[in-house]
Amino acid sequence: MKVLITGITGFAGSHLVDFALGRKDVEVCGIQRWRSRTENIEHCLPNFCMYECDVRDASSVRDVIEQVKPDWIFHLAAQSFVPTSWRAPTESLTTNILGELNVFEALKKTGLKPRIQIAGSSEEYGMVYPDELPIKETNPLRPLSPYAVSKVAQDLLAYQYFMSFKLDVVRTRGFNHTGPRRPPVFVCSDFAKQIVDVQRGVRDPVMRVGNLDAVRDFTDVRDIVRGYWLALEKGKPGDVYNISSGNGWKISDILGKLMELSGVKMKVVRDEARMRPSDVPILVGDNSKFRKETGWEPAIPFEQTLKDLLAFWREKS
Ligand code: GDD
Repeated sequence: MKVLITGITGFAGSHLVDFALGRKDVEVCGIQRWRSRTENIEHCLPNFCMYECDVRDASSVRDVIEQVKPDWIFHLAAQSFVPTSWRAPTESLTTNILGELNVFEALKKTGLKPRIQIAGSSEEYGMVYPDELPIKETNPLRPLSPYAVSKVAQDLLAYQYFMSFKLDVVRTRGFNHTGPRRPPVFVCSDFAKQIVDVQRGVRDPVMRVGNLDAVRDFTDVRDIVRGYWLALEKGKPGDVYNISSGNGWKISDILGKLMELSGVKMKVVRDEARMRPSDVPILVGDNSKFRKETGWEPAIPFEQTLKDLLAFWREKS
């Protein structure tokens, strides 16, 4: 079986390629932009084929799909950092929506019929009220950032191409995930790196933070990519699934846990530049539909994920 991963050099993409290469009779191909950094996948680069392609360029997407003829596509390529979407909304909306449209149009034009996973996000739910928790797939979508709007559009575009053209899409709404290789702009990795920098003596013991009151539902990235795989193995065409742990963590408690695990004490300072025009207050997902239909369940406890994240930053030179 041939698998094509867009966004293979990214955080989730790199863990998905590790997972896919561990499966029997699976050939993996990926696409990368010419300027993408490959440090996340260097360890397994010889074991899969790589094509240069920007998802925003329709003809190069079509060329790659025509050459690879994948049985499955994991569409992970995206601008994934919420704050960037306020600074550069055009880029986020273009990359995320047009990128997916180019994949779909390439499939229509070539007549190929692979299964396609569309990586949506819990950010699509946006403003969620207390009586709606934990969030089911049927909850209204009330996005609060340009990034979230782009993910709603991707999700609905996938639904529309399924209904109109019978493209075999499975939509996943991944809740927050972290683990080794997470870039340090995202909250857990950011805090872990600041702690390790203090331990190394390259930073004063001052922890810079944004909104510590938000609550997020975290899963280890290695469990998430196993979920993506199961989504294509067992998910229903056109359907949508939450992938979440079901446990809410207040960001201040995550910070406390990281300090406890590392034994480092730091003064906590709010950095206004890290505050968002509208931050989603709480996201905790109901994963019962996904568990029931695929047998998935998270295996790695969050505390272990945080330990692995600290170890990742300690090992990084
Ligand atoms: N990044 C960051 N840095 N976030 C902070 C900080 C900080 O110093 N302090 C508090 N936060 C809060 C944010 O305001 C947000 O409420 C929460 O921590 C998580 O922020 P991020 O780690 O940046 O992730 P996100 O929730 O905005 O988005 C991530 O999860 C989505 C799924 O829900 C990304 O991975 C998205 O791509 C993904 O779709």
